[in-house]
Amino acid sequence: MTTADGALVVFTPSGKRGRFPEGTNLLDAARSLAVDLDSVCGGRGICGRCQIVVSEGTFAKHGITSAADHLTAFSEPERVYRERSGLAAERRLGCHAGIVSDLVVDVPPDSQVHKQVVRKQADAHPIEIDPVLTLHYVEVDEPDLAVSRGDLERLLDALETDWDLRDLEADEHVLASLQRTLREGGWTATVAVHDGRTITAIWPGLRDIALGIAFDVGSTTVAGHLCDLRTGEVLASAGTMNPQIRFGEDLMSRVSYVMLHPGAERELIEVVRGCLRDLVAELTSGADVTPDDVLELTLVGNPIMHHLVLGLDPTELGTAPFALVTDRAVHRRAVDLDLDTHPGARVYALPCIAGHVGADTAGVILSEAPHAQETVNLIVDVGTNAEIVLGNRERLLAASSPTGPAFEGAQISCGQRAAPGAIERVRIDRETLEPRFRVVGDDSWSDDAALSPTGVCGSGIIEVIAELFLAGVILPDGAIDGSLAARTPRVVPDGRTFSYVLHDGEPRLTITQNDVRQIQLAKGALYAGCRLLMDAYGVETVERIRLAGAFGAQISPVHALVLGLVPDCDPANVTAAGNAAGTGARIALLNRAARAEIEDVVRRVEKLETAVAPRFQEHFVGAMGLPHATDPFPRLAAVVDLPERAPATTAGRPRRRGRSTT
Ligand code: FES
Repeated sequence: MTTADGALVVFTPSGKRGRFPEGTNLLDAARSLAVDLDSVCGGRGICGRCQIVVSEGTFAKHGITSAADHLTAFSEPERVYRERSGLAAERRLGCHAGIVSDLVVDVPPDSQVHKQVVRKQADAHPIEIDPVLTLHYVEVDEPDLAVSRGDLERLLDALETDWDLRDLEADEHVLASLQRTLREGGWTATVAVHDGRTITAIWPGLRDIALGIAFDVGSTTVAGHLCDLRTGEVLASAGTMNPQIRFGEDLMSRVSYVMLHPGAERELIEVVRGCLRDLVAELTSGADVTPDDVLELTLVGNPIMHHLVLGLDPTELGTAPFALVTDRAVHRRAVDLDLDTHPGARVYALPCIAGHVGADTAGVILSEAPHAQETVNLIVDVGTNAEIVLGNRERLLAASSPTGPAFEGAQISCGQRAAPGAIERVRIDRETLEPRFRVVGDDSWSDDAALSPTGVCGSGIIEVIAELFLAGVILPDGAIDGSLAARTPRVVPDGRTFSYVLHDGEPRLTITQNDVRQIQLAKGALYAGCRLLMDAYGVETVERIRLAGAFGAQISPVHALVLGLVPDCDPANVTAAGNAAGTGARIALLNRAARAEIEDVVRRVEKLETAVAPRFQEHFVGAMGLPHATDPFPRLAAVVDLPERAPATTAGRPRRRGRSTT
């Protein structure tokens, strides 16, 4: 009921309420209650961001009867906006709708400043849209002979009066175009303000588009996501091979190249920046926008890629003690990285954690948020170097483990990258020892269709070795059981050892004893890294394992456990985290608080150097067994019949630290 203090207005979904004198517009009412109602034009009826819907009816809970005519009549600016840009019948512009009587006012998601973007994975929390870059429309006083103030000062006055923005700096290119822009816009302009401090762009009149790109720079692939900073929507995604591959397949060989050729880091820097430029062009043309619309960029990558994109020499990362140039977040201008975006665009590189644990892992942490959970999570990003994070809200530990490229199909006789034709799924009949398989790009199994495999990719190698172990062809110590040659033509002598013929065609694909050893070495290093973190945390088991990255998305959790890639866990709780590093870059692009959050979390992460940890060798040797020489796997055994355990083997040593991810 309207009282002497004014009409009662309740905003939903926030539930914030207050009394306002008749005639107060809803934008002002919302602002006074700190209700999340957007505006770019500052209430001038031209941006359309402040749209609201009146909820009609009697609301006993609030003691209110609310009706559309409890607002002032539809105004002329609203009519003009409806004609120009469209405005749904039930909607009003909050800045031009005056309060007449009691109201329940709904702020739809598209009118909320801090709207949330729901992520596809069911267990992922939504991203709140609150970017570091904001747009502000202003009307600037015209110059006056009687008042001696510059155009910039009058612009700053308007920003202070209308938007409460004080002490702003302006980029040089903004100053250079300021006079022309203000006159072109008839003394109206929209400015982009970065971090509430710097004017990074200015356009004549009203402008309502600001885009950003989140980059995930891996050693093998580079991916970018073009996002609308206002809605969080991904407008385009693109990925490409990292052209640095010509300097070496893995990161260590690229660092060696720099070490052997002084000054060669410039070449690597140019090449990766060229790749980012190409991606900017591809992403913007794919979304029908221009590179000039891109005002904000974020970046994740392993330490070496992170350094190279930022123009930093990675040489120190090639040898112990693997010193980073900086483990803070890095802020740069896009033009300083030779990127063809808007001249005022800024780049934010997430912080690296340690010499082997990069900004990509910081992105994984931001995306998976183990620091916000009770459950102790184990997160593994499997690449040439596996990056491992363990912990919860109490403590967070991180390490990397030198798994080498075997999981990517390298160093495996029939290995290849995941590409059409690569075997990715394998089943071995426990009785006949006959295989059946599936290849990338085809949903049929080989016993139903004639398939022509070209090799075996990482997930296929995990499955074939795990299946051969379950079928008894590979013994718990990793040896291929030659006695089975008498039972099946699939087991064949191969020098002093035996091989398993997976595909007897063209090409002939065999799993050799050396292939099994390579996988044992890789998985032993990964498992040992996980165990070291568990020792440091003081837990014997983990409740939840997340497998991040492209490889993590492809491997079957049960087979990963059978192989002993990760410690025992209920297979139902071993899940793929998707491209968590890239998602972390996107979160940092869309939410300013996430930057402060990850910078704080990274400072608190306890880093472990696996190579010098006293128990690494012990854990590694045990982990050479399938699934492990001594550690029990009761939760796996509850769902899979595991062969008898074998004594620990000493076959093999941990490989020397190599570099790379993704
Ligand atoms: S605030 Fe821009 S139209 Fe209402």
